Amino acid sequence: MTTEAGPHNSEAAFDRIADALATLGYVVLTDCLPVALGEALRQRLIPALGSLQQAGIGRGRQHTLAAAIRTDTLRWLLPDSPAEFGYLAWMEQLRLGLNRRLLLGLFDYEAHFAVYAAGGHYHQHLDAFQGGTNRVLSTVFYLNPHWSPADCGELRIHAATGDALLATVMPEFGTLVLFLSASFPHEVAITHRPRYSIAGWFRGR
Ligand code: OGA
Ligand code: MN
Repeated sequence: MTTEAGPHNSEAAFDRIADALATLGYVVLTDCLPVALGEALRQRLIPALGSLQQAGIGRGRQHTLAAAIRTDTLRWLLPDSPAEFGYLAWMEQLRLGLNRRLLLGLFDYEAHFAVYAAGGHYHQHLDAFQGGTNRVLSTVFYLNPHWSPADCGELRIHAATGDALLATVMPEFGTLVLFLSASFPHEVAITHRPRYSIAGWFRGR
């Protein structure tokens, strides 16, 4: 697993992220967004916990609620608070930085808060599917202070072919994962504790 530590919204950091995506297709970053921003995002989510929407599978007429496959509830981010604006602005910097370095053609970004209650999970899946949403690069940012291995709920990233496990990521506060949306089957293992995150996707045209 490739883990990069330190502040990452700098040109040198974008170099390292781009290198990892070009060679491996995924990267796990720790402490790359300001701690205060992560804390503000967490404080945006907590009061909204009672009014989240059930997650579904597929788009448009294909859309179904599928609690057997995924159990998370969600709310889409809007740039209507300093916290959400700050997160989306950081991702915009990353989008521009990656477009200068790679040929991914990242065009826009969408993201939602996600909450998995204790016992929740998300079966193995790909984020980009046939006739789908044009998702190119997936992001997951975690909002859970003091996560311990006993809490489970880890993200498991698998190789595109075969079933090799490439990375196991604990959803610890401040960790950001990036991976190519169409290349890596991944899953959220059953969590033993409520699990907060922001899942997002850079899309092509
Ligand atoms: C997703 C997803 C992973 C995670 O929302 O599509 O795979 O670790 N999330 O929350
Ligand atoms: Mn996913």
